[in-house]
Amino acid sequence: MARILVTGGLGFIGSHTVVELINAGHEPIIVDNLSNANVDVLNGIEAITGKRPLFEKVDLKIKEEVEQLFNRHTDLDGIIHFAAYKAVGESVAKPLEYYENNLGSLVYLLQNLRDHGLDNFIFSSSCTVYGEAEELPITENSPVQPAMSPYGNTKQIGEEVIKDAIAAHQFNAISLRYFNPIGAHPSAEIGESPLGVPLNLVPYVTQTAAGVREQLSVFGNDYDTRDGTNERDYIHVVDIAKAHVIAVERLVNRKNLDKYEYFNLGTGTGSTVLEVIQSFERVSNSKLNYKIVARRSGDVTAAYADTTKANQILGWKAEKNLDDAMADAWRWEKKIRNLD
Ligand code: UFG
Repeated sequence: MARILVTGGLGFIGSHTVVELINAGHEPIIVDNLSNANVDVLNGIEAITGKRPLFEKVDLKIKEEVEQLFNRHTDLDGIIHFAAYKAVGESVAKPLEYYENNLGSLVYLLQNLRDHGLDNFIFSSSCTVYGEAEELPITENSPVQPAMSPYGNTKQIGEEVIKDAIAAHQFNAISLRYFNPIGAHPSAEIGESPLGVPLNLVPYVTQTAAGVREQLSVFGNDYDTRDGTNERDYIHVVDIAKAHVIAVERLVNRKNLDKYEYFNLGTGTGSTVLEVIQSFERVSNSKLNYKIVARRSGDVTAAYADTTKANQILGWKAEKNLDDAMADAWRWEKKIRNLD
């Protein structure tokens, strides 16, 4: 049993990871400032696991709050750091808020790790660090490309901050570079709850089907892919969550080969936007209202993971496919809209 601090633990990936930590016999402590999450998520976690984890409402961009947090919890075995702003477009409009929030919190966390002699840090990174990769599928050796948004830059700089901190101080870390996490817990007790109009494809699809949005816009069908729409590696959030448990156990048990390791988290299979829609229509047995519109700026043509490193070294593999994820996303959407 390990005591693991989970920042952003009420968010989409964070809450699913808390569930998997509890399922694996660990004791997560949730930290969240509720800026993009609801405290009711605790009820969902409790409904699934039968346990209600400790919740600390802390704003990690306030240094004193972070220090007080670590003074209250001196016996942590590891930290999984999800808490961050994550909207690409918003980051272009509010770069300074993104750098302050995403990097300030990271620096304060690492300072406290150092000062309290703590170790074992998992960082929530993104395939966005690879930009428009020259070779597909994308391995961890693909070069990190200039970031296309301040959000993406906070992930790149975050990885660099950790690398430099590890070179100077005594701790170990793993960065997990997610492709496109989607879906919800199969129980429909927790899922994704974007504020306002969704920016990501899958919540837009399910909200359109639920009648909350009128029509999905498909951003471009003139890309160099099999049907002209962008190709992505959509991965079920429960698979992503399980990878975090394996990663933190790897550090706690000192199984890591380097003080800082990086892994891609994807399925290894790319799906186009139209294939996502087809999957949704299949599992929901309904037709989705969509139209093709102009490209969205900043979208890369295709991105999907080479998962060999995570498969072989972490011993982790995505178990769920696109249909599973779309079915779970739809079950969650129907539950929160009181449909059925
Ligand atoms: N899309 C639509 N219509 C929508 C929303 C999305 O057609 O209403 C398309 C996009 O053009 C893209 C695909 O669906 O081709 C997926 O878009 P998402 O916004 O769901 O996901 P992205 O691949 O753009 O975003 C991911 C991560 C981000 C990361 C970004 C970098 O979610 O964290 O990749 O490109 F920054």
